[in-house]
Amino acid sequence: MPTFRAPRGTRDLLPDDRAVFDHLERTATSLTARYGYRGIETPLFEQAAVFERGIGEVTDVVEKELFRIAPRTEEAEAWALRPEPTAGIARAYVQHGMQTWPQPVKLTTTGPMFRYDRPQAGRYRQFWQFDVEAIGDAGPAIDAEIIELGHRFYTEVGVQGVEVLVNSIGDPACRPAYVAELVEYYRGHLAALPPTERDRLERNVLRLLDSKDPAMTGLNAAAPRITDRLCEACAAHFESVKSHLTALGVPFRVDSGLVRGLDYYTRTAFEFYVAGRAGQQQALGGGGRYDGLVALLGGKPTPGIGFGLGLDRVALVLAEQGGSTAPAVEGPLAVVVGADPEDTVSRLRVATELRAAGLRARADLARRKLGRQLEAAGKDGAHFAVILGDELGQGQVQVRDLEAGTQRVVAIADLARELARAEASHKHG
Ligand code: HAM
Repeated sequence: MPTFRAPRGTRDLLPDDRAVFDHLERTATSLTARYGYRGIETPLFEQAAVFERGIGEVTDVVEKELFRIAPRTEEAEAWALRPEPTAGIARAYVQHGMQTWPQPVKLTTTGPMFRYDRPQAGRYRQFWQFDVEAIGDAGPAIDAEIIELGHRFYTEVGVQGVEVLVNSIGDPACRPAYVAELVEYYRGHLAALPPTERDRLERNVLRLLDSKDPAMTGLNAAAPRITDRLCEACAAHFESVKSHLTALGVPFRVDSGLVRGLDYYTRTAFEFYVAGRAGQQQALGGGGRYDGLVALLGGKPTPGIGFGLGLDRVALVLAEQGGSTAPAVEGPLAVVVGADPEDTVSRLRVATELRAAGLRARADLARRKLGRQLEAAGKDGAHFAVILGDELGQGQVQVRDLEAGTQRVVAIADLARELARAEASHKHG
């Protein structure tokens, strides 16, 4: 057992994992750019109040899962690691006066999020999201556009059988009456409620609906549904989102039990799942409309909508489905080896020149016999070995084509050009 290990619920992304994430991030970046989104970075930590106010004090994410940073005496601010990026982005929207930019402001970000949750397969304490936000458009057309974008991402990276679940969770006009009805309903089943849920009943009854406690499953299934109690404006919005989705050819299913775990949502809510994935109740991504969030954080009332892609879970599902996700690793074009094991200076100098010319080159620095150096170059998948020998004094080297088994003398002055030409003709031939 090693002395130190990555903290529970976190993991190291080794180069093969990182390559998959790179591929997912690149695909998402280029896809969202086609829809007019641009990148933004906000800090990995914020004033805790940004999350408490934005996400809601009585949510799992804030109440149980927030990584709070102990304040240092000289800076008495309470900070927390971000459990999600939307609140921080809305904070930045307000802080930088983005309401004066052309609306909607379309932003993406990608990086780690932190939630002190119970670790299990596909649920980590540090996980990665690719996040998409459109702030300043009340919809409903953009709701459908952003759901279509999410669905297209999974198709482009090759996840099979992704299902879109949508719902509407109302707004301040229709939700209060629904909340009152829901409180009545659960009060009628008080004895069956686990202590945390009983405690939340009066403070934030909506959160009972997304409780992970198995004791709640039956009660929640029979609870009154917001979808049946939407006001006229919310119902019309929801109908229009659905007809736009149909027109765009996005397959979706209405799930009136979908309420999402964060308080900032209004109206449209959605999640992406792999249909029939045995035993997994885990969304590959999810989001919704948050028309009250910007105002909660001190801005002018501004509508918004967005979603987060769970990169860890997408990578897991791709591996399970057996698809190849990351492009194969390219070996070096050339490895510089030499007859004199001690002459690392010459090998390094030649490799440095090749790299300066833009080529993938490695020098063998291990001070071993030429035969061993050549063997290692072959294992590396190198196309050429550049061999430094007796001709070095005349400014020449031997270039061995490790695939064809041929060898010839090349002037060092021409080496980069020759190798680049050989690589190009190899790729196109
Ligand atoms: P969320 O549903 O909490 O929404 O997270 C989005 C996605 O992140 C989930 O669907 C899941 O794939 C992934 N995820 C969440 N928690 C974990 C975890 N502990 N381990 C691994 N993956 C996880 C949000 O975060 C909202 N900010 C989405 C949004 C953006 N809404 C509007 N704009």
